[in-house]
Amino acid sequence: MKKSIITFLTCCLGIVSQAQQSKDPKMNAFINDLMKKMTVEEKLGQLNLPSQGDIITGLGTNDNIGAKIRKGQVGGLFNIKGVDKIREIQRIAVEESRLKIPMLFGMDVVHGYETVFPIPLGLACSWDMNAIEESARIGATEASADGINWTFAPMVDIARDPRWGRASEGSGEDPFLGGQIAKAMVRGFQGKDNSFSSNTNIMACVKHFALYGAGEAGRDYNTVDMSHVRMYNDYFYPYKAAVEQGVGSVMASFNVIDAVPAHANKWLLTDVLRKQWNFDGFTVADYGGVSEVVAHGLGDLQTASSLALAAGLDMDMVSEGFLTTLKKSLDEGKITEVQIDTACRRILEAKYKLGLFKDPYKFCDASRAKKQIFTKEHRSIARRIASESFVLLKNDKNILPLAKNKTIAVIGPLADSRSNMVGTWSVAAKLDKPSSLIEGLKEVGGSRTTILYAKGSNLLSDPKMQQDATMFGRDIPRDNRTEEELTKEALAIAAKADVIIAAMGEASEMSGESSSRTDIGIPEVQKRLLAKLLETGKPVVLVLFAGRPMTLVWEQENVPAILNVWFGGTEAAQAIGDVVFGNTNPSGKLVSTFPRSVAQIPLYYNHLNTGRPASDKGFEKFRSNYMDEKNGPLYPFGFGLSYTQFEYSDIKLNKTDLDASGTITATVTVKNTGKTEGAEVVQLYIRDLVGSISRPLKELKGFEKIKLKAGESKTVSFTINTELLKFYNSNIEYVAEPGEFEVMIGTNSQDVKTARFNLK
Ligand code: BGC
Repeated sequence: MKKSIITFLTCCLGIVSQAQQSKDPKMNAFINDLMKKMTVEEKLGQLNLPSQGDIITGLGTNDNIGAKIRKGQVGGLFNIKGVDKIREIQRIAVEESRLKIPMLFGMDVVHGYETVFPIPLGLACSWDMNAIEESARIGATEASADGINWTFAPMVDIARDPRWGRASEGSGEDPFLGGQIAKAMVRGFQGKDNSFSSNTNIMACVKHFALYGAGEAGRDYNTVDMSHVRMYNDYFYPYKAAVEQGVGSVMASFNVIDAVPAHANKWLLTDVLRKQWNFDGFTVADYGGVSEVVAHGLGDLQTASSLALAAGLDMDMVSEGFLTTLKKSLDEGKITEVQIDTACRRILEAKYKLGLFKDPYKFCDASRAKKQIFTKEHRSIARRIASESFVLLKNDKNILPLAKNKTIAVIGPLADSRSNMVGTWSVAAKLDKPSSLIEGLKEVGGSRTTILYAKGSNLLSDPKMQQDATMFGRDIPRDNRTEEELTKEALAIAAKADVIIAAMGEASEMSGESSSRTDIGIPEVQKRLLAKLLETGKPVVLVLFAGRPMTLVWEQENVPAILNVWFGGTEAAQAIGDVVFGNTNPSGKLVSTFPRSVAQIPLYYNHLNTGRPASDKGFEKFRSNYMDEKNGPLYPFGFGLSYTQFEYSDIKLNKTDLDASGTITATVTVKNTGKTEGAEVVQLYIRDLVGSISRPLKELKGFEKIKLKAGESKTVSFTINTELLKFYNSNIEYVAEPGEFEVMIGTNSQDVKTARFNLK
């Protein structure tokens, strides 16, 4: 009885909650009106986001999906490429379904569309928020020109375990930096004011909520178990930042939180997301996430679906549990119509905000695709941004940059691949468009440079693993010659060269979804080749392709120069050429710690001290250390070299006491002491020396990327206020506690100047 009264009031009289009243009244009126006309089945249809699989072959007209759209059983589709296809499907929805409700068209526009930018982990290493925003804006422009109105990005999962393949898709290990990047990407996709006034702005979807990067042992989809203090202080930060920026949707993650799958976790999807953070967009499942609640052990698909809806999940991706079981659950009194209405309303609101009710074809202007996708301008921006993402890890005796009048032997299984350049999660990319490294080096080197090539080795010695690592068209054909034959050919080519570029590392599909690895080094077969190349005594530059932090202790000891290029996107090859030949000075800085060995994982810079911190002098009994390995990383967070050098002055604080409402300014002067112009990322870290809970040894709290000419100096100032010093205490209260703080400013998380101040 009570249930039906509420349903009556909310639906028929158009009575809306306070949250809804505070929204655009025109939108409310429109949606109230529309929802009055909807049957329960049609409302459930809006919550359904089926797989597009059969659309690809059937174009939606005669197939199962087409029939469902006509019946009003589909709220959106995803990963369909091509404006003509999308326009036709939209036409079916708005002409042939009873209520003519337009559909959402989603896609994983994660790091670009056809113009692909570096994988997000690389993009983050640029520490350039304008560049990151621009990459998202271009991704949105191109995708929307092809009919897409919703992207499943940004992916902001903090990753402190490089075994996890999806570390490639996020922004590394740091909450603060991850938060800034989340905001920049949402701005890039949705526009600065979230008004969707332009048809080049699409709705963003921050994912995967939450803690997906913290799966045990780095194995994808694995169990997560974490204290709430860590969740709130570290892992939640970037999702919250995206919500604060106005992200339109949030995707649930595959993992459990406090043993409850995120998809069915009311605390997460309602208490945290809606009540604490005031999120007012819609939530969507990850691929099959609702049906996976069954494998998690919470019941059958009907139970999983009702739990998910009741938890606050609005849209069901692929499982079709909402479509096929929620009516039954409603009839059985297991869920309420109010819950269905709430979810349906949120999806209709998203469509309204995007302007689809006014013009369902707003994103279906076929003339745009020809003019706005993979343009010269977009590609040249992608080239610049790619070069900003590369991290120079070592450069003994300034081997790099190379002079152009040399003979260069480019050797390795990654040297001659076009399809691997774009990296994982680039579903819209045309894989034959990027240049291979050889082609890029030839183009940038020009006629004075002689480029020779030998494959040198297979990607992996195990053919089955190589097959698994080269799927989705990211081919590296297997060479059936023996390892000895391949090495012999490589050495013969190397003998003719002045310098060797070893193009080695991971193939693009060795990272990304379901690409966890226990060995995160360069595959052994490649390493053996690298050792032989080093034996020639010729200068060797390792151009490292990587989708995650890798273990490189042997390489650091033996290879004179290492340039980490991640997967740089469609213009990666030219950008590598720009850096290798010195047209561009590398400026990328790591956003994830590179461990010395897998056994140290998880290893991250912003850790707690422990009660028995390791000594500087090496292993000591009864300290927190290893008998057989250092505690520290090979390359710390924030690390990256340049072709020039920067010198930091001591820190100047304008005062040493901070009032609750005041600010302190911390200033350093940075000088380019080398001979070339370069960019430097000046990093601010803070340590709360005494707190009510143990606090990290340092936490990134600011950064600024500056350009300096040779010999030039610049002062960089950071404003420190109480807000920057806040953290979640044991009661999950966000507080700044009085006491002493250490300020650190430097070129990476280890190499810093320090000063102290007091919060009163
Ligand atoms: C991934 C998501 C992605 C979705 C849709 C899932 O497998 O986890 O990140 O957005 O597929 O393609």
